[in-house]
Amino acid sequence: MLYIGVDLGTSAVKLLLMDERGTIHRVVSKEYPLFFPQPGWSEQRPEDWYEQTMAGLKELLADCDRSKVEGISFGGQMHGLVILDKDDQVIRPAILWNDGRTGEETDYLNQVIGKEKLSEYTGNIAFAGFTAPKILWVKKHEPEHFAAISKIMLPKDYLAYRLSGVHCTDVSDASGMLLFDVKNRCWSKEMCEICGVREDQLAKVYESYEVVGTLLPQVAQELELPENVKVIAGAGDNAAAAVGTGTVGEGKCNISLGTSGTIFISSEHFCVDENNALHAFAHADGKWHLMGCMLSAASCNKWWMDDILGTSDYGAEQAAIRDLGENRVFFLPYLMGERSPHNNPNARGTFIGMTMDTARADMTQAVLEGVAFALRDSFEVAKSLGLRIEKTRICGGGAKSPLWRKIMANVLNIPVEQIESEEGPGLGGAILAAVGCGAFASVEEAAEKLVRPAGVEMPDASLAAKYEARYQQFRQIYPACRQLFDELVF
Ligand code: XUL
Repeated sequence: MLYIGVDLGTSAVKLLLMDERGTIHRVVSKEYPLFFPQPGWSEQRPEDWYEQTMAGLKELLADCDRSKVEGISFGGQMHGLVILDKDDQVIRPAILWNDGRTGEETDYLNQVIGKEKLSEYTGNIAFAGFTAPKILWVKKHEPEHFAAISKIMLPKDYLAYRLSGVHCTDVSDASGMLLFDVKNRCWSKEMCEICGVREDQLAKVYESYEVVGTLLPQVAQELELPENVKVIAGAGDNAAAAVGTGTVGEGKCNISLGTSGTIFISSEHFCVDENNALHAFAHADGKWHLMGCMLSAASCNKWWMDDILGTSDYGAEQAAIRDLGENRVFFLPYLMGERSPHNNPNARGTFIGMTMDTARADMTQAVLEGVAFALRDSFEVAKSLGLRIEKTRICGGGAKSPLWRKIMANVLNIPVEQIESEEGPGLGGAILAAVGCGAFASVEEAAEKLVRPAGVEMPDASLAAKYEARYQQFRQIYPACRQLFDELVF
């Protein structure tokens, strides 16, 4: 049998076709535009997601036996606000996870409603990218759009709706809305009231591996698929990536180096970071996780390569990097503000420490290292909670670079394991589809059988010591710049 995983990312939708033995038959990627209408704002058109997903599905299925396709599921960029009117038409472009326009609404939630109450209702506090502050922003700035809302959806759930006709979401993605009681896996009445939202405007919540319906007849016809192909709820991209790297059950860790950078720690029990620097979310395996999320990770490298250096040869630029652990240039990777752990939409990207002998390669190296140091900030928060993380898995586009994996292993000073496929969320989506179709008894069992490790990068004691010293310098830069960032914002 065949299972389709759809990874609805920020730069592209990636689709993957997998069989019940975990063999990946094909991967297809289709891009769509990302709009920055104002500095710090970030939007996409949900219709583009659907069109490119359908185009990608046609390519993905081109030479396969379509009668063998049993299920389709998703890993999707989290937190994005998609609003539909009474005819299920999209009201305005989606406001994405890395959009920083909701400073005022986030402050209102954290300071007027209060972090304690938010944490009691949801397990989390407000961050600018979360969905609830965006709803408050639309209510204030676009009252006519707010009044027209019939359904509030998350990005991948819009795809599931277009494919199946069902308004659904899953526990992991719902966790990032700040409208969800993560501990009890249901909508929070208090948060709905605070945001002026009725529960019937929200989608029905499923576990990530549950079937929400089957393909709509016209969709099945267009894709030349059987009408009984099941649509499975899926997960937020980080929970799906965790499934795709086998980060399920108790105390496992995964790092994703995608547009965002995340550190994800699975847990059998609901637990909250009492300072709420890490998110406490439901996991796609029926349990929970803690997560730190930086808003710009592989996207910093992409920006530096494509937009600033004007090259597409990432390998050649990285080959020029010589002395790891000796770079005197630092880079703060806050190109879209920062979420974990600083929670500051005003933070900005910064190079510091250049001298006349600084070379292009030092700057490239600083970008890679800056992302690793910023992830270490969240890693430190996890350690301060008493979590013992002895190794991690890694996925996402950035994980393809052996040099970046080496930097990560030495900055964190733990072994970094690779998986055969670095398509975390797409693979996780396909695994969730297989579980939903009954091919496996649980997500844990499926991950155990289908996820194949492919090598490990061990830290080196002397390099890790050099990076320890560099990290201690790095962590002084943000506090020194913080006030300036607030003053520079316009
Ligand atoms: C997680 C987050 C990002 C997006 C990226 O909280 O905001 O990782 O899900 O797609």
